[in-house]
Amino acid sequence: MSIVVRLDHLTKQYLKAPRPAVSNMSFEIPEGAVFGLLGPNGAGKSTTVMMLCGLMRPDSGTVSVLGLDMQEHGAEVRKKIGVAPQEIALFPTLTAHENLVYFGRMYGLKKDEIKRQIEKYLSVFNLREKAHKQVGTFSGGMKKRLNLIAALLHQPRLVILDEPTAGVDVQSRNMILDFLTDLKAEGTSIIYSSHVLEEAERICTHLGIIDEGTVLQTGTRGHVMAQHPDCQNLEQLFLKLTGKNIRD
Ligand SMILES: Nc1ncnc2c1ncn2[C@@H]1O[C@H](COP(=O)(O)OP(=O)(O)O)[C@@H](O)[C@H]1O
Ligand SMILES: [Mg+2]
Repeated sequence: MSIVVRLDHLTKQYLKAPRPAVSNMSFEIPEGAVFGLLGPNGAGKSTTVMMLCGLMRPDSGTVSVLGLDMQEHGAEVRKKIGVAPQEIALFPTLTAHENLVYFGRMYGLKKDEIKRQIEKYLSVFNLREKAHKQVGTFSGGMKKRLNLIAALLHQPRLVILDEPTAGVDVQSRNMILDFLTDLKAEGTSIIYSSHVLEEAERICTHLGIIDEGTVLQTGTRGHVMAQHPDCQNLEQLFLKLTGKNIRD
């Protein structure tokens, strides 16, 4: 089985920060995995995701995605992957449809393909009736679903989602998780950053549990759980590894 993502001794410290947000982080993700990047607030999930998709340069270490080094081939890789960042990346004064056309063009899709994909996904995510409404008027759940569609239009082999269900209602969350289950069945590799452990239990095949910028445990979900026979579920394991102090 081939590897879709390889992080090798990745380190990143923000200007004036007292310590690195990501410190000497290494892990691999096999093709077809749903990899749960799990950690409490401030653990370094978003920083890792931004380096993974080439939006941020590491201080040291390397990132390889789909077999290509991000430092050298970042632009090429970004066309092949889909990214839904934690902070919604949509234009609020454009309509849902206009936003998606923009992303479709950015990925270099042909006009009729853009049209076909937009129709398909607006329907999948129950947004057809809102197609021609300004995104600024949307609820949090609607924006999250649209953000996700923008990452999927070009049928990427690897999809990277940073807290895709944060702030959405139960129905939207359920719809997103069902959709990701189907996407996984089609063989798409998924990186799913979250701190919601029931969601990870529902969809993830592999886990990377991180805190304070370092990897605490990684591997298949079965392997990770087997290391801790005293833990009945992922929440217990997560608390065991990351401690019980409150993070804001
Ligand atoms: N732009 C920034 N400047 C300084 N520190 C930052 C910045 N973004 C994040 N951090 C800090 O880096 C650490 C990791 O943040 P982040 O990657 O956003 O974690 P997570 O996504 O897991 O919540 C935190 O301590 C956070 O406060
Ligand atoms: Mg984050």
